[in-house]
Order: sequence, then structure tokens, then C-alpha cells
Amino acid sequence: MNVKDLYIDYFVKKGHVHIPSAPLVPENDPSVLFNTAGMQPLIPYFMGEEHPCGPRLCDYQKCVRLTDLEEVGDLTHHTFFEMLGNWSLGDYFKEESITYSFEFLTDVLKIPVNRLAVTIFCGNENIPKDTESAEIWQNLGIPKERIAYLGIEDNFWAAGETGPCGPDTEIFYWRSNDSLPEKFDPEDDRWVEIWNNVFMEFNRHSDGTVSKLPKKNVDTGMGYERIVSVIEGVNDNYESSVWRDIIKNLEEISKLPYKGNEKSMRIIVDHIRTSVFIAADNAGIKPSNTDQGYILRRLIRRAIRHAKKLSIEINSNWEEQIALKIIEQYEKYYSELKNNKETILSVLKDEKIKFNKTLEKGLKEFEKIITKNSQIDDLTAFHLYDTYGFPIELTIELAAEQNIKVDEEGFYKRMKEHQEKSRTASAGKFKGGLAGNGEMETKYHTATHLLNAALKEVLGSDTHQKGSNITDERMRFDFNCDHKLTEEEKEQIENLVNQWIQEEIPVTKESMTKEEALKRNAEAMFIEKYPDILTVYFIGNVSKEICGGPHVQNTKELGIFRIKKEEASSAGIRRIKAVLEPTE
Ligand code: ALA
Repeated sequence: MNVKDLYIDYFVKKGHVHIPSAPLVPENDPSVLFNTAGMQPLIPYFMGEEHPCGPRLCDYQKCVRLTDLEEVGDLTHHTFFEMLGNWSLGDYFKEESITYSFEFLTDVLKIPVNRLAVTIFCGNENIPKDTESAEIWQNLGIPKERIAYLGIEDNFWAAGETGPCGPDTEIFYWRSNDSLPEKFDPEDDRWVEIWNNVFMEFNRHSDGTVSKLPKKNVDTGMGYERIVSVIEGVNDNYESSVWRDIIKNLEEISKLPYKGNEKSMRIIVDHIRTSVFIAADNAGIKPSNTDQGYILRRLIRRAIRHAKKLSIEINSNWEEQIALKIIEQYEKYYSELKNNKETILSVLKDEKIKFNKTLEKGLKEFEKIITKNSQIDDLTAFHLYDTYGFPIELTIELAAEQNIKVDEEGFYKRMKEHQEKSRTASAGKFKGGLAGNGEMETKYHTATHLLNAALKEVLGSDTHQKGSNITDERMRFDFNCDHKLTEEEKEQIENLVNQWIQEEIPVTKESMTKEEALKRNAEAMFIEKYPDILTVYFIGNVSKEICGGPHVQNTKELGIFRIKKEEASSAGIRRIKAVLEPTE
């Protein structure tokens, strides 16, 4: 049985509800481009919202982390990964959490206890040493010598600068044929981290201080790929069953062996897999020069460059063959891969055709540049990006092959200037952060529900939300519509929303089954994405929507709603930008 199934089985038996993986592109959270951890979509519930499925949850969550992008190509780094997670929202705490992890590893996966070691938070001036976890581990049979105490850098976890956080205990596995040392040295990289149990009892504020959350929670995360390679006894993740068939497929396409071509092969399969998952997301991301679209573009282009290095005929359907293999392997767990197969394949192919047109010319230009220069300055790097579509890591990689340095920092400065000029995404957003659940975001969130209802009223009941994006300053809302809105339509929509605000309608919520919600005609963006039990938010009889919240309590809190702009977003999709202004 697959480890994902074993994991879910185990935690369901321990009273957890299996919730579906949230989309890769977070809904209503512009602070991050992609989900980077299993807990990210659950942040409101750590802050005190009640989860409709109860206080014990488990899942496998699709994640993308870009901090490791340039490391991909080695034995263990990936841009996409799945995180196995189990959560207690104010239910059990350290004792059960540690016992469950221990039991799953040693009883279900049959990992010998003597190959395990753990780290524990040693405490600081604000938070005491976690002796409770140490005691629990020792009672389970982890000897003292296999327990190390580390500081805030290693044993304290937070999703971002602010928000839920807490000390953690991390579980390590001896992944080596060398003889097992008695004493655990966390610096020795033959010990690899496999699981992180975070005891989320604090909330960090923007001034750096922490306060207690309403309840004590547990957040755990185990990298699926890592645990599979541990069980299968391979040091190279790409030799595990996760990748074996996909690499084999690439060997056949390139007519080259994996051995000796590891780096390019790993980059190709890793980047295509991540691209497949991004393109499959219902958010409808396409390669572009901003935000998620830019990440998708960089991944596809880097994969193409490495395919070229392996002398793969770029115009053949190599990328399609690899993508199909990936889809085949994952569709059982992620139905969106099957449902959006055509979109995925055309995203890859269209971008390939686009890049291939400039790649040859760009490579020639690059050759010319390096015969004249001993390093690549910011302007040249930006020129390669702007004119030939070379993402910066491509320039860096090509330059490194010739032992030439690139002014990467200067490039980012140029890029930022350029982006500010064209008012596109800020570079900061590429880093990650925490869900914006501030007061203004909450107001905007409720405003999206009112706008959704107003659009239906003015444009027809088959008008639906196709996406949204909220900051504390404005909202963006995409919906299906076959024409540019007239001034009159815009006015009607704006007036309706303001009328509902003035009517001071209370916002309420109710938990119900998915079937019940559908029967009652609740608005839903992607019904297949919701758990069996879910929350429906009601705004009087104006709106009912399946939604995780949070929302204001009464529409009167919103102020005045103003549409600032209405424009095309993509074929058949229009976009409204709107703001909430304070009432005098
Ligand atoms: N959220 C924790 C992590 O990502 C479990 O490591």
C-alpha cells in the first residue's frame, strides 16, 4: 500500500477526518504565491475559527517551495512536494501527537527504533525548555543520547513573520550504511529529518512579541518523498518508486542512461512535475511575466534548456510524454490532473513553442557576450531576460558552465524597477508569508460575497466567481461574462452592494454536508475541492456561499463599495477591481 494511504488510514483510525488537499494557489490569500505547507490553508483555524470537520484533521497537501529552486538537480531537492500532515485544533497535544508519530513510524512503517533520533526546543527567555516532549520520547523508548536540544533557529516553527507558531520536535532517521552511532549529532547529515511536530500555542505579532493562541494546537508535516526513499533504502530520491518510471521514460526519450546525466534529468522531471500541478490547478495559471505565471514560465523554460542539453529533439512531444506519465501516476490522488489534462498539455506545448523561438537566438547572443566580457553585468542579464526570455537562473547556469559570474542582485534591482514601472507583482511576494486575515482583508472577503450575488442579479444567475485576490487595500474579482460591462450595469452592481451594506444584514454560518450545501444551492467555486462536511456563509437571503471564512459579523462594517475598474482577464472572463471606502 502507498505511504499516503497508510498514513491517512492510520490517522482516520485515530479519529481524524481526511480533508482534501487545498489548491496549490491559495484562495483569497495574496501573501503567498503557492501553498508551502500543509498547515497554510488551515491558518484561520489555528487562530480560533472552528473547522467544519472538527478538531482532528489529516491530509496530504500539494506544496511548492521556490527557495530550493537552484538546488534542484541534486539528490534530494524538489520544487513540488506533498506534505503528509495531521492536526489537532485545540484537541490533543504533545503526548498523543508524539505517540501517534512514533507508532506510525515504528508499527505501521516498521522503522527500527534504533535508527531514530529527535530534537527538542531548548527554551529561551520567553518560552521554557520543552522537557515534557523529552519525557514522552523517553517513555516511548528513545534513549537520552538520541535526544538533542536546539534553539529557536532549529526547533521553533512559524509559517511567516506573524501568525501561529510554536516550538517543535523533529524526528530524524539514520540514512546510511555506516554503523549506527550511539549518540545523535544533529550536525551529521547522515541523520535526515523526516517529520516535524509543531506545538502551535503562540501567535506572533508584527512587533515580534508573542501571545497565547485561544487553544493549544498541533501541526505536523512529513515530506512524502523523503519518507518513501527512507523506507525503500535509497539515497537518491529519484531512484525511489516515486520517480523510477518517470526517469525510465526520460531515458527512453533521450536514449541516454540516468547515470552520468543525473542533473539534467532530475531538473527536467522535477520542473515538469511542478508545471503539471500548477497548470492543473483550477486557478487557471498560464505562463506569464508576473506572479505564479512567471514561476510556471521559469520552470518550463529551465526544463526545456536541460532537454536541449541532453540533445532531445525539442519539437518532438517529449514534454507531453513525461507529463502524461506524471498524470498517470498521480491522478488517483488528484482528480484535477485527469480533469485538466488537455489544459496541462497545451500549457506546456505553447510555452515550449514560444521559448524555442527565442532560445536559439538567445544562446547565440550569450556566446557573443561571453567572448567579450569576463562577467555578466545587470544590464546584460536584464537584456537576456527582456529580449530573449531568459529567466535569471538560466543565465546564471549558462554562465557557471563557463566560470563566469552574473550580477544577480543588480538584475533583481533592474527587474524590480521594470516591474514597478509596469505595476506588476512586487518581488517580495516571491518569498512567502502568511495569510492576510487582518480586519480589512476580512471586510474585503465579505465584499466578494456581496459582489458575487450582485453580479448574478444584474447579469444573470449563471454568472459565477472564477477567482479572487484580496489585499488590505483592494479586491479583485474574476467572473464569467461575455461582454464588457456597460456603465449602467456597473452602477447597478455597485448600488446593489451598497444597498445591502446599508441594510445592515447579519453574516451567519452553518456547517453541513456537501450534499446538503448543494441541495440548498450554495454558491461554490470548485465543489470537488471541498471536504464532505463544510461551512456555508449566509448573508441574509442575499448570499449563501461555501467558504472557510473569516467574515465580518454584519454588512454594515464594510463602508462604501466602489468599483474602480472593469476589464478583460482572459477569454470569457472579466475582472472587477474594487475598494471599500470608510463612511464619513
Ligand atoms: N508546518 C510544519 C512544517 O512545514 C509542520 O514543517
